[in-house]
Amino acid sequence: NNPPYPAFRATNKESFAYETTIRRWPIIIDNAIADIKQTIAETTGERAQEGNKIVKALDDIKQEILNNKPLRHIQDDKSDTAKWNKHLDDYFKGCTWMNGTWLFNECYLYRRMGEIFFNSQHWTDYDCFERQKNDTFKGSHGAVFDLARKMPELIKSMPEEKIEIVYNELVQVCLWGNATDLSLLTNMSQEDIERLQAIERDHLAKRREFILVDDTEKLWQKLKTLKGGRVDFVLDNSGFEVFVDMVFADWLLQSGIADKVVFNCKTMPWFVSDVMPKDMPMMFKNCLDRDFFPSKQGRSQQDVEALENMVHRWEQYITKGKLQVRSHDFWCTGLSYWYMESDAPDLFNEMKDSDIVLYKGDLNYRKLVFDCDFPVTTPFKEAIGPSMANNFTNIIALRTNKADPVVGLSEETKKDIESKATRQEWRYSGKYAVVEYN
Ligand code: F6P
Ligand code: MG
Repeated sequence: NNPPYPAFRATNKESFAYETTIRRWPIIIDNAIADIKQTIAETTGERAQEGNKIVKALDDIKQEILNNKPLRHIQDDKSDTAKWNKHLDDYFKGCTWMNGTWLFNECYLYRRMGEIFFNSQHWTDYDCFERQKNDTFKGSHGAVFDLARKMPELIKSMPEEKIEIVYNELVQVCLWGNATDLSLLTNMSQEDIERLQAIERDHLAKRREFILVDDTEKLWQKLKTLKGGRVDFVLDNSGFEVFVDMVFADWLLQSGIADKVVFNCKTMPWFVSDVMPKDMPMMFKNCLDRDFFPSKQGRSQQDVEALENMVHRWEQYITKGKLQVRSHDFWCTGLSYWYMESDAPDLFNEMKDSDIVLYKGDLNYRKLVFDCDFPVTTPFKEAIGPSMANNFTNIIALRTNKADPVVGLSEETKKDIESKATRQEWRYSGKYAVVEYN
């Protein structure tokens, strides 16, 4: 049982699917090629030779897209290969790069890139986006040190009204942290991103008017009742976003709301900047490396120590099992979460017992709402499908709008936003956001 509305496809020129397929994917592939070339320049022998073949194979994918070829089977022997091919046969037979559904095709692109590396001798674990992930995290130093400086204040014991204020700020930081999505850097400048990362209170207050649906209060009502609960994050991006996810997780643990936090990561390089398990220790290491962040101006010894203390505490969470970092093949399929119960019953059954499941970012949102053209006033509960809606009662999506699908708007908000912003602006420029709870 699928929703009765069409999925977004690149054949629809009004949709961001079209621009993504025509313009953004080639840039993303070119950036990956540039990265490989840089690594080749630092490599010798067989690995370098094989690197050239990888460059050629990446370029071939670009040509396939350009020539609108049919989607072929995945040709490697990973744990998810058979499943990918079954999905292709069962649901997407005969689809091409242009006419297939945007959601499946975009996931397929990253899986096809993965195939090239998995089939290699010397590049099997290579993440062609890692350099970009690290470079952009470096650019986030302002907000990183701001948060580290603030943190001791945020986690000291305080009366409930104050906790609620802290909660409200942290949800916003966690939400706008999603703006740092490298796959969107083809649209946004570094200045745009820094502006979105700013965490001063009045700045956050101003940003609130850009939240089209805001269930922050509903989530608070639930969190308030929790003591020593389990909170799952279905993560999105590395670098600054996962840094703020960690800040939020830290606060959940320190406040006693949660006793266990689970970070659900991707299994392979995905949508440029998505978190893989290895990105977590790398983020810790970068924070602890005193030479990692550039421009030491305006940074005191105390700031450096504040960051180090915080990150040491985070490492302890992992050692003590309070924070679990893991991944599952299901997060890297091309399917909507409407299929989670049938496609990944193990994961489904294990996660529905979690007290809160927090879905970060745009892609997770697209997967929750089937990436289809629901009327924007469709209730969130309906858009996430019966299986999710009935079994997962505590889903929260924190998403900056970077793709067409949006649901859960009131008639009033719909009217208002349609009168003052273009479709491009409110649906996929990253300027607007939704916080939706079921
Ligand atoms: O390529 C489009 C897209 O799927 C958009 O939905 C968004 O721009 C990006 O890729 C992923 O965003 P996020 O990192 O927030 O999931
Ligand atoms: Mg992402």
